[in-house]
Amino acid sequence: MLNEVIEYLNVGPGSKIVDATLNGGGHTRGILEKYPTAQVLGVEWDPDIFQEFQAGSIAKNIIAVNDSYVNLKNIIEANDFQPDGIVFDLGVSSLHYEKSGKGFSFMKDEPLDMRFNPKVNDITAADIVNTASQEELAKILNDYGEEKFAGEISKGAINKRRVKPVTTTTDLVSIIRASVPGWYQKKKIHPATKTFQALRIAVNNELDNIEKGIFAAIDVLKSGGRLVVISFHGLEDKIVREIFKIKAKEGIIKWVIKRTIKPKWEEIKNNPRARSAKMKTIEKV
Ligand SMILES: C[S@@+](CC[C@H](N)C(=O)[O-])C[C@H]1O[C@@H](n2cnc3c(N)ncnc32)[C@H](O)[C@@H]1O
Repeated sequence: MLNEVIEYLNVGPGSKIVDATLNGGGHTRGILEKYPTAQVLGVEWDPDIFQEFQAGSIAKNIIAVNDSYVNLKNIIEANDFQPDGIVFDLGVSSLHYEKSGKGFSFMKDEPLDMRFNPKVNDITAADIVNTASQEELAKILNDYGEEKFAGEISKGAINKRRVKPVTTTTDLVSIIRASVPGWYQKKKIHPATKTFQALRIAVNNELDNIEKGIFAAIDVLKSGGRLVVISFHGLEDKIVREIFKIKAKEGIIKWVIKRTIKPKWEEIKNNPRARSAKMKTIEKV
């Protein structure tokens, strides 16, 4: 949604933009290609993805920081960078699925890790699956994955781990397959989708991070500055919507456009993951 991001962020010559979820720098580079005099401060939490970005050629008007957007206030202060616009493109990236080797994808046989930043986070997805009580595990799958077979899958995991610890994505997928009914396995969406999403959110404390990050972003924006947030599932979207509602009521922000912007058909055709993207924009008063 690069064009929409640039349009709704209201980027212009000399704008100072924070890309709170830098990843491979798609948005950052897109912004600088269109506005070469703009400056971007990019924040990326995953050290491997950050390192890969750093290894590429970086324009002099990009500052890249390996940290969590939860710490946006400190990052902004440390770099003396008061932003005209901030963009969050939430969640996981194709680099995680394709290259991380950290078990984000149920299509690969990898260790069940899922930590965005192993340097600051000790608990892996395998730790959760092997140590949580059945009730705790079911709650995670239910709350963060809205998985209707949370009870059955958590029971399956507990039974399996009594015999042998669950350590890989393949172990987990076979537990899921053995725990859900046949019709659920024939659906268009893979039966492991929701369980994997739930564990990833739990491992990285994602919903809490989003809340802290969005509050911090509103705080650090200049008056008249824009905040654009792209979310990928209902749980993220709900948090963003609620914060915007509270802050609008307090008179701190106003909606730039009340409705959610969705990607154009051509973008979805080229990148099917984009189909669930929802973009919201506000302006600081
Ligand atoms: C969907 S991708 C962003 C894609 C990016 N807009 C682009 O065009 O390449 C989300 C990125 O946010 C990063 N991320 C997740 N949680 C984060 C956090 N708390 N702080 C900073 N980055 C985070 C992920 O590691 C991932 O690289």
